[in-house]
Amino acid sequence: MKGSKIVHISVLQKEIIQYLSPRPGDNFIDGTCGGAGHTLDILKNIGEEGKILALDLDSHALASAQERVAAAGGSRQNQIVFVNENFARVAQVVEANNFRPVKGILVDLGMSSDQLEGSGRGFSFLRDEPLDMRFSIKQDLTAAAIVNQWSGQDIEEILRAYGEERFARRISQQIINSRRLKTILTTQELVRVIARAVPARWQHARIHFATRTFQALRIAVNDELGNLKNFLPQAVDVLEPGGRLAVISFHSLEDRIVKRFFQEKAGAGQLEILTKRPITPGDQEQQLNPRSRSAKLRVAAKLPAP
Ligand SMILES: C[S@@+](CC[C@H](N)C(=O)[O-])C[C@H]1O[C@@H](n2cnc3c(N)ncnc32)[C@H](O)[C@@H]1O
Repeated sequence: MKGSKIVHISVLQKEIIQYLSPRPGDNFIDGTCGGAGHTLDILKNIGEEGKILALDLDSHALASAQERVAAAGGSRQNQIVFVNENFARVAQVVEANNFRPVKGILVDLGMSSDQLEGSGRGFSFLRDEPLDMRFSIKQDLTAAAIVNQWSGQDIEEILRAYGEERFARRISQQIINSRRLKTILTTQELVRVIARAVPARWQHARIHFATRTFQALRIAVNDELGNLKNFLPQAVDVLEPGGRLAVISFHSLEDRIVKRFFQEKAGAGQLEILTKRPITPGDQEQQLNPRSRSAKLRVAAKLPAP
């Protein structure tokens, strides 16, 4: 992260180690390496022989993760293979790196605090930055492209579907009206447009009135739900029997996808669900790290083929 000193606080660290249960010699995949918090926790438990395949779509995040691992893990950093890739391509990445057997896979979805506060890519409605929101700067689609080029109907649809935004129509109409006069290029320009669309009494609600629009744009720019849907079956394929899949999600849209996938695979005799209800952070963690409040962890184990 450019010039930033923000360090992402990992969520549910104790629970991840408890459920993934890493032991000396085991191989793990961290599909969302981010600040490398979970990667380092796993590294501490896999002895000198175990390996980690650490993916992140964001090359800046991956570079700072490598620095953190080098600082904390010394020569043990050689046990980690860092790959700037989408977890939606995990099967190909496993093949390309001949990374088997796989004892466990973790994805900790969404963005990190470093990206929110230090990337300069417009994830936060509290900052004034270009409307970008890409995890991977290699992709073309940006939040500015959606806001300035998509039809009002398509914008309304993503605000409703990915933001569960009650004022989706009013906001999309206001975006169309505003962009006729001037292209919307920055986060604060967009916040002012949203403010004109949201009724005054909603502008003092507990949740900031721009939250849902920003969430929806980020999910759409990065195709977050599509990536998750593509990832889950591949994760089951690459796991060895008995291996575990852990997913931390931060909103109901993601959690629903994971819950349904686990139920479907459990019904087909391919997975055993280890978390009947999602695991959530305790009071102490929520106080120390308010961002953890919406986290939900679901874990399943791969069953041997009949
Ligand atoms: C919540 S952070 C992970 C934090 C990490 N577990 C830790 O303990 O520091 C999420 C990370 O996932 C990355 N990411 C999001 N979608 C991804 C995808 N489809 N493939 C790979 N990485 C992704 C983001 O760039 C971000 O760095």
